[in-house]
Amino acid sequence: MKEMNKILTMIFAITLIGLGFYFNSIQAEGGLGFGLSEITYLIPAFFAYLFGFLYITAKQNNYIPLEKYQRYEVELYKKPVENGLTKKFHDIRFRELREVLNNYYEEGMNIIDMCCGLCMWNKEKLEVDGLDINLNTLKIAQVEGRINKAIGLEVMKNEIESDSYDIVINMASLEHMKEPSKTLLEFKRILKEDGLLILEVPYDVPFSLLKILFWLRCFWEGSIYRNEYYLKKGGHLHHFSPRSIRRLLEGIGFEIIELNVIKSLSTIVVAKK
Ligand SMILES: C[S@@+](CC[C@H](N)C(=O)[O-])C[C@H]1O[C@@H](n2cnc3c(N)ncnc32)[C@H](O)[C@@H]1O
Repeated sequence: MKEMNKILTMIFAITLIGLGFYFNSIQAEGGLGFGLSEITYLIPAFFAYLFGFLYITAKQNNYIPLEKYQRYEVELYKKPVENGLTKKFHDIRFRELREVLNNYYEEGMNIIDMCCGLCMWNKEKLEVDGLDINLNTLKIAQVEGRINKAIGLEVMKNEIESDSYDIVINMASLEHMKEPSKTLLEFKRILKEDGLLILEVPYDVPFSLLKILFWLRCFWEGSIYRNEYYLKKGGHLHHFSPRSIRRLLEGIGFEIIELNVIKSLSTIVVAKK
C-alpha cells in the first residue's frame, strides 16, 4: 500500500512539473497576468513534504523590506481579521492559541508576543508584552488593551535580556523571517530555563486548505486589486509543513511538547527551552 502511494505521488509530481512548465510558458508570453508560476513552486514543496526537508526558501522574491513592514497601515492587518472568510480563518487560529495557552499559563507567568501585530488573539486581555516593528499596529494593540508593554523593535534587535520570559508567543511571522533558525534561537535566548515557546506557522504544503485560500486571496487582492503586499504573497519566504517545523525546532534544541495541526490551515507547536 505504501509503495502504491509512493508511485501515485510520483505520477502526481511529474504531472505537476508538466503543468508548471506549461503555465510558465503561457505567462512568459504575457498571456495570464496571474502568477500561475506558483504551480512550479509546488514541485519542490511537494518533494519537501514527501521527504520532510527542513523548509523551503523558494520564494525570496516575496521579500518585503523592513521599512515597508514599518509603514503598513493598521487597515492591512485589521481588514482580514474583521471580514468574511479570512475572519473565520483568523478566529480559528486565535481560538486555538488561547486554548493552548490556557493549558500552560499559570498566574504570575510573564508572556511576550513577538511580532504581535494587533495581538488580536488576546481577547481576555492577559498581561502580555508585545514586540513588533510596526508602530501603527503596536499602538492600537496597546490602546485597545491587548498588550501591556509595547516594544517597537526588529525581532533580531530586540534588546530584551536573556532568560526574561516564561512564555514566548510567535504567530504567523516566522515564515516572513530571512533566517528562521536564528529567529528561533533569539526566542530561546529570551526564554527562561524550561520556558515555553508557542509558535504558529501556516500549514503551507501543496493543496492544504491554507495554500488554496491564500492563493485565492493573493489573486484577488494582489493580481486584481494590485495590493503590493499580496502581490508579494504576503511576504512569505518560507513554507513549513508540520514535519519541517518540528525538525527545525528540534534541530536547535527545543523539546516539542505538543504539535497540533489546525484544520489544514496552520500548525501550532508548544516547545520547551
Ligand atoms: C502576518 S503579521 C502577524 C501578526 C500577528 N502575530 C498575528 O498572528 O495576527 C506579521 C507581523 O510581523 C511583523 N514583522 C515582520 N517582520 C518583522 C521583524 N523583522 N521584526 C519585528 N516584527 C516583524 C509585522 O509588522 C507584522 O505585524
